[in-house]
Amino acid sequence: MIIAVDGPAASGKGTIARALARHYGLPHLDTGLLYRAVALTLKRAGGDPDSEADVLAATRFDDSLLAEPELRDETTGALASKVSVHAGVRAALMERQRAFAAQPGGAVLDGRDIGTVIAPNADAKLYVTASPEVRAQRRCKEMEARGLKGDFDRYVAEIVVRDARDMGRDNAPLLQAPDADLLDTSDLTIEQSVQRAIALVDARLKRPSSH
Ligand code: CDP
Repeated sequence: MIIAVDGPAASGKGTIARALARHYGLPHLDTGLLYRAVALTLKRAGGDPDSEADVLAATRFDDSLLAEPELRDETTGALASKVSVHAGVRAALMERQRAFAAQPGGAVLDGRDIGTVIAPNADAKLYVTASPEVRAQRRCKEMEARGLKGDFDRYVAEIVVRDARDMGRDNAPLLQAPDADLLDTSDLTIEQSVQRAIALVDARLKRPSSH
């Protein structure tokens, strides 16, 4: 059973994907972390995000990087959005993601192109979204939870730029797969979003929903 969860930054897709993995007892891969690891490796090597050769070299990152807190920073996310436009980079990371999806028993993957490119035959696909203002508000709360000050206006601006880049690129742009269920979390709590996601997946799996 493969569950694909796609959507823009701070839409709630990561939280939903983790909850679905727990609910169905499946392993979970946050594919954004792979692009973030490439971005951080490139940055530390002093590489140029517009140079495909520099970015390709950074795809051979050390897996220990996946546990680094700096991976979660918004600057790393923004750089990940830049490095991920290159076709060669996406190809270099594809095998790892497809192998994860194909493991016996199945998996939950979240990202931008899971339902469209990585696992087009997924059993259930969710496209999770929320308004830019709600997503910026969530980023503020995340920052405050980490003891830092959030900047709402800056986050709205960053989200709009990142969405435009992710949706506008030629290679595997962010878009809702025709057979994906739309889940707008703008007016939902985390708990409500997760319950709705489970109901949508259950419906796709033709199982009775547990709620
Ligand atoms: O957590 P957040 O939604 O902010 O970002 P992320 O999922 O960690 O992804 C960071 C960036 O990596 C995105 O803006 C995309 O440009 C890129 N990405 C991608 O191209 N394809 C994926 N499957 C996952 C991430």
